Amino acid sequence: MTDKNFYITTPIYYVNDRPHIGHAYTSVACDVLARYHRLLGHKVKFLTGTDEHGQKVEKSANAAGVSPQEFTDTVSRHFLEMSEQMDISYDDFIRTTEERHVAAAQAIWKKMEEAGYIYLGSYAGWYAVRDEAYYAESELLNGKAPTGAEVEWVEEPSYFFKLSAFEGKLLEYYDKHPDFIAPTSRRNEVISFVKGGLKDLSVSRTTFSWGIPVPGNPDHIMYVWLDALTNYLSAVGYPDTKCTEFKDFWPASLHMVGKDILRFHAVYWPAFLMAADLPLPDRIFAHGWWTIEGEKMSKSLGNVVAPADMINEYGLDATRWFLLREVPFGNDGNFSKDALITRVNSELANNVGNLAQRTLTIINKHCGASLPECRSLNTEEIAMVYNDKLLSHYHDAMNRCAFHEAMQCIIQMGNEANIYIDEKAPWKLRKENPEEMKAVLYCLAENIRIISILLQPFIPVSSSKILDSLAVPEDSRSYNHTTQHHALKSGTILPPPSPVFPRLGGLKPQEGAA
Ligand code: MSP
Repeated sequence: MTDKNFYITTPIYYVNDRPHIGHAYTSVACDVLARYHRLLGHKVKFLTGTDEHGQKVEKSANAAGVSPQEFTDTVSRHFLEMSEQMDISYDDFIRTTEERHVAAAQAIWKKMEEAGYIYLGSYAGWYAVRDEAYYAESELLNGKAPTGAEVEWVEEPSYFFKLSAFEGKLLEYYDKHPDFIAPTSRRNEVISFVKGGLKDLSVSRTTFSWGIPVPGNPDHIMYVWLDALTNYLSAVGYPDTKCTEFKDFWPASLHMVGKDILRFHAVYWPAFLMAADLPLPDRIFAHGWWTIEGEKMSKSLGNVVAPADMINEYGLDATRWFLLREVPFGNDGNFSKDALITRVNSELANNVGNLAQRTLTIINKHCGASLPECRSLNTEEIAMVYNDKLLSHYHDAMNRCAFHEAMQCIIQMGNEANIYIDEKAPWKLRKENPEEMKAVLYCLAENIRIISILLQPFIPVSSSKILDSLAVPEDSRSYNHTTQHHALKSGTILPPPSPVFPRLGGLKPQEGAA
């Protein structure tokens, strides 16, 4: 794997449920980073998929009165559809019922067993099917898991993974790789959990059958988390560590996860990889959770928000923008209709949308629908359009997954351009100083080009509409093109402008808008 390759993964979604906005959130965040790296010219693999085994899925299938395979085929399709609806640019969609995955999961098991990290014993303790997790008696609160999930007593023969052997190795690894777990507060939580002591982990079950059989002992089914985590390897061709895909993309650059599943990714997964003598991913980022109008999202409260409903109501790009802009990435957020409408109107409709609409309308009407021939941009204009400080802040923020900050940089550019258009008032210059009007419009068009390039990872559809309306060729939209060297050519004919961001709830347009 070179610095120019980027392998990013979403968690694989449980197929016991319909996709909701929490799932869409993880996927959109990964999509933004995948698009970002493609625009940097990197070779990207973006993996998503579904987690189809385990007791939870088996129970849901039974409740639905269909076989687990039929059940997973249907629900997996819903997640595929969610990806299409949210314009998720995944390169690969893995299902844990696929042959390539079963082979990889059994191979890593054998590797860990040969290395002496798996042994047969028996388990007696608590298990929460909802979390697919084991809990110690001391962790229970009022007879339930700390997550609130119901627990059941399990007593059965079980294989164990020698997790206890990795306590020191993990702590040393976290110490040497301070960026391995982000954000820092979550990293600290993981470190104190590991310092609290690691017990060997039960990694097989015998009381149900929907899963991957343990190699050499098919009475046992692999623990669903060991099965699931391996998907990140199955998708790059493991156990064939000599294949191009594996060489190009392992170790993964980033596993994006919600805070609820960080422990599995930052403790168990690195220990499994160490046991199998495989390199560890570069980074694990744990994002926060959404509540809905102040309440936890749950089926019983009836407040589960489906991505398709949000798109129908507000539009795809408005939804994507709100999800990543509203809350600093890593924090919890609250979804409210009012907040979405305010955010989208003030930042997309009134800021960027209005700027593009005003500029392009005047060019269309008063410059013969072509980019005007005019004087060169002056020093202030150059500093405003190719704003080095904001550009480097944007890239720095993207590399930290601080999406809201990168988006703020774009909004800041839009604010400055809006101040410029109001001060220069090209609609007045038309009579007073037509030559100056042309220069102002050219400068604004160029500014909008830069802004739209930066917007692409977040709102791919609208940004490409704006770039189309500036007649920017498809192959001239990468970050390399955010310099004056690639400036728009005067004389280029522009298509008639069309509004890009409809105002939600109807605020007044500004002067000069169509
Ligand atoms: N199947 C496991 C992951 C295995 S990865 C090897 C799983 N699946 S899940 O469907 O329950 O959750 C998938 C992702 O959705 C998680 O990252 C989780 O944090 C995220 N979200 C689920 N509900 C959420 C919110 N209400 N808000 C934000 N994200 C949430 O866990």
